[in-house]
Amino acid sequence: TEYANILVEQQGRVGLVTLNRPSALNALNKATMEELVAAVTAMDSDPGVGAVVITGSGKAFAAGADIKEMADQGYMDMYLADWFRGWEDFARLRIPTIAAVSGFALGGGCELAMMCHLIIAGDNAKFGQPEINLGVLPGMGGSQRLTRAVGKAKAMDMILTGRFIDADEAERCGLVSRVVPAADVVSEALAAAGVIAGKSKPAAMAAVEAVNAAFETGLAHGVQFERRLFHSLFATEDQKEGMAAFTEKRQPEFKHR
Ligand code: HXC
Repeated sequence: TEYANILVEQQGRVGLVTLNRPSALNALNKATMEELVAAVTAMDSDPGVGAVVITGSGKAFAAGADIKEMADQGYMDMYLADWFRGWEDFARLRIPTIAAVSGFALGGGCELAMMCHLIIAGDNAKFGQPEINLGVLPGMGGSQRLTRAVGKAKAMDMILTGRFIDADEAERCGLVSRVVPAADVVSEALAAAGVIAGKSKPAAMAAVEAVNAAFETGLAHGVQFERRLFHSLFATEDQKEGMAAFTEKRQPEFKHR
Protein backbone atom coordinates (compact mmCIF):
# COMPACT_ATOMS: atom_id res chain seq x y z
CA THR A 1 0.00 0.00 0.00
CA GLU A 2 1.21 3.51 -0.82
CA TYR A 3 0.98 6.07 1.95
CA ALA A 4 1.67 9.80 1.70
CA ASN A 5 2.27 10.66 5.36
CA ILE A 6 3.86 7.56 6.87
CA LEU A 7 6.61 5.08 6.00
CA VAL A 8 5.85 1.42 6.65
CA GLU A 9 8.51 -1.28 6.93
CA GLN A 10 8.73 -4.76 8.31
CA GLN A 11 11.83 -6.27 9.91
CA GLY A 12 11.28 -9.93 10.65
CA ARG A 13 8.11 -10.10 12.71
CA VAL A 14 8.23 -6.44 13.71
CA GLY A 15 6.37 -3.64 11.95
CA LEU A 16 7.90 -0.17 11.90
CA VAL A 17 5.73 2.84 11.11
CA THR A 18 7.43 6.23 10.79
CA LEU A 19 5.33 9.40 10.89
CA ASN A 20 6.75 11.27 7.95
CA ARG A 21 5.71 14.91 7.70
CA PRO A 22 8.94 16.35 9.07
CA SER A 23 8.26 19.84 7.64
CA ALA A 24 5.25 20.03 10.00
CA LEU A 25 7.04 18.18 12.83
CA ASN A 26 4.79 15.21 11.98
CA ALA A 27 1.63 17.06 12.98
CA LEU A 28 -1.20 14.55 13.01
CA ASN A 29 -3.70 15.66 10.40
CA LYS A 30 -6.71 13.56 9.46
CA ALA A 31 -4.94 11.87 6.54
CA THR A 32 -2.03 10.83 8.76
CA MET A 33 -4.40 9.43 11.36
CA GLU A 34 -6.25 7.42 8.72
CA GLU A 35 -3.05 6.05 7.21
CA LEU A 36 -1.58 5.14 10.60
CA VAL A 37 -4.76 3.40 11.72
CA ALA A 38 -5.00 1.51 8.41
CA ALA A 39 -1.36 0.40 8.47
CA VAL A 40 -1.37 -0.83 12.06
CA THR A 41 -4.82 -2.43 11.75
CA ALA A 42 -3.45 -4.51 8.87
CA MET A 43 -0.53 -5.60 11.08
CA ASP A 44 -2.90 -6.42 13.95
CA SER A 45 -4.52 -9.13 11.84
CA ASP A 46 -1.32 -10.24 10.04
CA PRO A 47 0.00 -13.47 11.58
CA GLY A 48 3.45 -12.50 10.29
CA VAL A 49 3.64 -9.43 12.54
CA GLY A 50 3.90 -9.73 16.32
CA ALA A 51 4.56 -6.17 17.48
CA VAL A 52 4.74 -2.66 16.03
CA VAL A 53 7.04 0.29 16.64
CA ILE A 54 5.73 3.81 15.92
CA THR A 55 8.27 6.58 15.56
CA GLY A 56 8.70 10.00 13.97
CA SER A 57 11.06 11.32 11.34
CA GLY A 58 13.25 14.35 11.99
CA LYS A 59 13.25 16.23 15.28
CA ALA A 60 9.81 15.19 16.51
CA PHE A 61 7.77 12.14 17.32
CA ALA A 62 4.78 14.37 16.62
CA ALA A 63 4.20 18.01 17.61
CA GLY A 64 0.48 17.51 18.01
CA ALA A 65 -2.72 17.41 16.09
CA ASP A 66 -2.50 19.62 13.01
CA ILE A 67 -3.31 23.10 14.33
CA LYS A 68 -3.65 24.56 10.82
CA GLU A 69 -6.25 21.92 9.89
CA MET A 70 -8.30 22.66 13.02
CA ALA A 71 -7.99 26.43 13.27
CA ASP A 72 -11.07 27.41 11.25
CA GLN A 73 -13.41 24.62 12.31
CA GLY A 74 -16.60 25.47 14.15
CA TYR A 75 -18.42 23.54 16.82
CA MET A 76 -20.79 21.90 14.31
CA ASP A 77 -17.88 20.86 12.06
CA MET A 78 -16.11 19.28 15.03
CA TYR A 79 -19.27 17.65 16.36
CA LEU A 80 -20.57 16.24 13.09
CA ALA A 81 -17.15 14.93 12.05
CA ASP A 82 -16.68 13.63 15.62
CA TRP A 83 -13.15 15.04 15.32
CA PHE A 84 -10.45 12.65 16.63
CA ARG A 85 -12.93 9.73 16.90
CA GLY A 86 -10.68 7.75 14.56
CA TRP A 87 -8.02 7.58 17.26
CA GLU A 88 -10.27 5.24 19.23
CA ASP A 89 -9.51 2.64 16.56
CA PHE A 90 -5.82 3.07 17.22
CA ALA A 91 -6.27 2.83 20.98
CA ARG A 92 -8.27 -0.39 20.53
CA LEU A 93 -5.53 -2.25 18.63
CA ARG A 94 -4.57 -5.55 20.20
CA ILE A 95 -1.15 -6.05 18.66
CA PRO A 96 1.50 -4.68 21.07
CA THR A 97 2.56 -1.17 20.02
CA ILE A 98 5.69 0.65 21.15
CA ALA A 99 6.18 4.40 20.77
CA ALA A 100 9.83 5.23 20.10
CA VAL A 101 9.95 8.92 21.03
CA SER A 102 12.82 11.09 19.88
CA GLY A 103 12.32 14.84 20.24
CA PHE A 104 8.91 16.44 20.65
CA ALA A 105 5.83 14.46 21.69
CA LEU A 106 3.39 17.30 22.25
CA GLY A 107 -0.38 17.52 22.42
CA GLY A 108 -1.76 14.83 20.15
CA GLY A 109 1.79 13.48 19.79
CA CYS A 110 2.00 12.85 23.53
CA GLU A 111 -1.52 11.44 23.41
CA LEU A 112 -0.58 9.08 20.55
CA ALA A 113 2.47 7.91 22.50
CA MET A 114 0.22 7.23 25.49
CA MET A 115 -2.17 5.21 23.30
CA CYS A 116 0.76 2.90 22.52
CA HIS A 117 1.28 0.05 24.96
CA LEU A 118 4.68 1.22 26.00
CA ILE A 119 6.91 4.23 25.43
CA ILE A 120 10.66 4.14 24.92
CA ALA A 121 12.13 7.65 25.03
CA GLY A 122 15.36 9.09 23.74
CA ASP A 123 17.20 11.32 26.20
CA ASN A 124 16.23 14.24 23.92
CA ALA A 125 12.48 13.60 24.30
CA LYS A 126 10.13 16.38 25.35
CA PHE A 127 6.58 15.55 26.41
CA GLY A 128 3.86 18.12 26.87
CA GLN A 129 0.16 18.95 26.61
CA PRO A 130 0.39 22.59 25.47
CA GLU A 131 -3.21 22.86 24.22
CA ILE A 132 -3.94 25.41 26.95
CA ASN A 133 -1.75 27.84 24.97
CA LEU A 134 -4.15 27.45 22.02
CA GLY A 135 -7.23 28.14 24.10
CA VAL A 136 -8.33 24.51 24.19
CA LEU A 137 -7.53 21.34 26.11
CA PRO A 138 -6.25 17.89 25.12
CA GLY A 139 -8.73 16.23 22.75
CA MET A 140 -7.28 12.78 22.06
CA GLY A 141 -7.54 11.40 25.58
CA GLY A 142 -4.66 13.29 27.19
CA SER A 143 -6.52 14.54 30.25
CA GLN A 144 -7.54 10.96 30.99
CA ARG A 145 -4.52 8.86 29.99
CA LEU A 146 -1.92 11.29 31.35
CA THR A 147 -3.73 11.48 34.70
CA ARG A 148 -3.90 7.71 34.94
CA ALA A 149 -0.25 7.39 33.90
CA VAL A 150 1.37 10.02 36.09
CA GLY A 151 -1.26 10.99 38.68
CA LYS A 152 -3.15 14.19 39.32
CA ALA A 153 -0.24 16.35 40.49
CA LYS A 154 1.87 16.07 37.33
CA ALA A 155 -1.11 15.92 34.98
CA MET A 156 -2.64 19.13 36.33
CA ASP A 157 0.76 20.82 36.18
CA MET A 158 1.39 19.81 32.56
CA ILE A 159 -2.15 20.41 31.28
CA LEU A 160 -2.74 23.72 33.07
CA THR A 161 0.67 25.31 32.47
CA GLY A 162 1.54 23.65 29.16
CA ARG A 163 5.03 22.97 30.54
CA PHE A 164 7.15 20.37 28.70
CA ILE A 165 8.86 17.63 30.69
CA ASP A 166 12.11 16.00 29.62
CA ALA A 167 12.84 12.28 29.38
CA ASP A 168 14.20 12.01 32.93
CA GLU A 169 11.13 13.63 34.45
CA ALA A 170 8.93 11.46 32.24
CA GLU A 171 10.67 8.35 33.53
CA ARG A 172 10.51 9.51 37.16
CA CYS A 173 6.77 10.03 36.94
CA GLY A 174 6.10 6.75 35.15
CA LEU A 175 5.14 8.07 31.72
CA VAL A 176 7.83 6.11 29.88
CA SER A 177 9.18 2.59 30.22
CA ARG A 178 12.81 3.26 29.38
CA VAL A 179 15.11 6.17 28.51
CA VAL A 180 18.01 5.49 26.13
CA PRO A 181 20.48 7.67 24.21
CA ALA A 182 18.62 9.49 21.45
CA ALA A 183 20.56 7.71 18.71
CA ASP A 184 19.45 4.30 20.04
CA VAL A 185 15.75 4.89 20.54
CA VAL A 186 14.50 3.14 17.40
CA SER A 187 16.91 0.21 17.69
CA GLU A 188 16.00 -0.26 21.36
CA ALA A 189 12.29 -0.17 20.50
CA LEU A 190 12.79 -2.61 17.60
CA ALA A 191 14.69 -4.95 19.93
CA ALA A 192 11.91 -4.79 22.55
CA ALA A 193 9.33 -5.37 19.80
CA GLY A 194 11.38 -8.32 18.57
CA VAL A 195 11.30 -9.88 22.03
CA ILE A 196 7.52 -9.41 22.24
CA ALA A 197 7.04 -10.71 18.69
CA GLY A 198 8.76 -13.95 19.74
CA LYS A 199 6.03 -14.69 22.28
CA SER A 200 2.63 -16.21 21.66
CA LYS A 201 0.61 -13.49 19.89
CA PRO A 202 -2.71 -14.44 21.51
CA ALA A 203 -1.02 -14.39 24.92
CA ALA A 204 0.46 -10.95 24.20
CA MET A 205 -2.90 -9.66 22.98
CA ALA A 206 -4.59 -10.95 26.13
CA ALA A 207 -1.91 -9.27 28.25
CA VAL A 208 -2.54 -5.96 26.44
CA GLU A 209 -6.27 -6.29 27.08
CA ALA A 210 -5.73 -7.12 30.73
CA VAL A 211 -3.37 -4.23 31.48
CA ASN A 212 -5.66 -1.86 29.59
CA ALA A 213 -8.55 -3.08 31.74
CA ALA A 214 -6.65 -1.77 34.77
CA PHE A 215 -7.08 1.71 33.30
CA GLU A 216 -10.72 1.30 32.49
CA THR A 217 -12.38 -0.74 35.24
CA GLY A 218 -12.40 -1.18 38.98
CA LEU A 219 -10.08 -3.65 40.68
CA ALA A 220 -12.58 -6.44 41.33
CA HIS A 221 -13.87 -6.41 37.78
CA GLY A 222 -10.36 -6.16 36.36
CA VAL A 223 -9.12 -9.11 38.37
CA GLN A 224 -12.08 -11.20 37.26
CA PHE A 225 -11.52 -10.16 33.64
CA GLU A 226 -7.87 -11.18 33.93
CA ARG A 227 -8.79 -14.56 35.37
CA ARG A 228 -11.22 -15.23 32.51
CA LEU A 229 -8.56 -14.30 29.95
CA PHE A 230 -6.13 -16.59 31.78
CA HIS A 231 -8.60 -19.47 31.57
CA SER A 232 -9.18 -18.81 27.88
CA LEU A 233 -5.49 -19.20 27.04
CA PHE A 234 -5.74 -22.85 28.11
CA ALA A 235 -7.62 -23.35 24.84
CA THR A 236 -4.47 -22.41 22.88
CA GLU A 237 -1.78 -24.64 21.45
CA ASP A 238 0.72 -22.05 22.61
CA GLN A 239 -0.14 -22.67 26.26
CA LYS A 240 0.43 -26.41 25.78
CA GLU A 241 3.71 -25.75 23.97
CA GLY A 242 4.93 -23.13 26.46
CA MET A 243 4.34 -25.35 29.46
CA ALA A 244 5.68 -28.49 27.74
CA ALA A 245 8.85 -26.63 26.74
CA PHE A 246 9.38 -25.57 30.35
CA THR A 247 9.02 -29.13 31.60
CA GLU A 248 11.30 -30.47 28.85
CA LYS A 249 13.88 -27.74 29.55
CA ARG A 250 13.84 -26.34 26.00
CA GLN A 251 12.80 -23.13 24.24
CA PRO A 252 9.12 -22.98 23.22
CA GLU A 253 8.18 -23.03 19.52
CA PHE A 254 4.97 -21.01 19.60
CA LYS A 255 2.59 -21.67 16.74
CA HIS A 256 0.97 -18.24 16.88
CA ARG A 257 4.25 -16.55 17.40
C1 HXC B 1 0.59 22.14 12.55
C2 HXC B 1 2.77 22.43 13.16
C3 HXC B 1 2.52 21.91 14.44
C4 HXC B 1 1.19 21.48 14.72
C5 HXC B 1 4.59 22.44 14.35
N1 HXC B 1 4.07 22.76 13.16
N2 HXC B 1 3.68 21.93 15.15
N3 HXC B 1 1.83 22.53 12.24
N4 HXC B 1 0.26 21.63 13.74
N5 HXC B 1 0.85 20.94 15.88
C6 HXC B 1 4.76 23.33 12.01
C7 HXC B 1 5.10 24.78 12.24
O1 HXC B 1 3.99 25.57 11.94
C8 HXC B 1 6.22 24.99 11.25
O2 HXC B 1 5.67 25.10 9.95
C9 HXC B 1 6.95 23.66 11.30
O3 HXC B 1 6.02 22.71 11.84
C10 HXC B 1 8.18 23.69 12.18
O4 HXC B 1 7.79 24.15 13.47
P1 HXC B 1 8.51 25.39 14.21
O5 HXC B 1 7.52 25.95 15.16
O6 HXC B 1 9.11 26.33 13.23
O7 HXC B 1 9.68 24.64 14.97
P2 HXC B 1 10.41 25.07 16.33
O8 HXC B 1 10.63 26.56 16.33
O9 HXC B 1 11.58 24.17 16.48
O10 HXC B 1 9.35 24.78 17.50
C11 HXC B 1 8.96 23.45 17.78
C12 HXC B 1 7.68 23.43 18.66
C13 HXC B 1 6.58 24.30 18.00
C14 HXC B 1 8.01 23.99 20.05
C15 HXC B 1 7.26 21.98 18.79
O11 HXC B 1 6.44 23.89 16.62
C16 HXC B 1 5.23 24.18 18.64
O12 HXC B 1 4.98 24.75 19.69
N6 HXC B 1 4.31 23.45 18.00
C17 HXC B 1 2.93 23.32 18.46
C18 HXC B 1 2.86 22.38 19.61
C19 HXC B 1 1.41 22.26 20.10
O13 HXC B 1 0.79 23.26 20.53
N7 HXC B 1 0.86 21.06 20.02
C20 HXC B 1 -0.50 20.82 20.44
C21 HXC B 1 -1.38 20.90 19.23
S1 HXC B 1 -3.09 20.67 19.64
P3 HXC B 1 6.15 26.26 8.94
O14 HXC B 1 5.22 26.08 7.77
O15 HXC B 1 6.01 27.54 9.67
O16 HXC B 1 7.57 25.90 8.66
C22 HXC B 1 -3.22 19.01 19.89
C23 HXC B 1 -4.44 18.43 20.51
C24 HXC B 1 -5.63 19.01 20.00
O17 HXC B 1 -2.41 18.23 19.60
C25 HXC B 1 -6.67 18.96 21.01
C26 HXC B 1 -7.53 20.16 20.97
C27 HXC B 1 -8.63 20.13 19.95
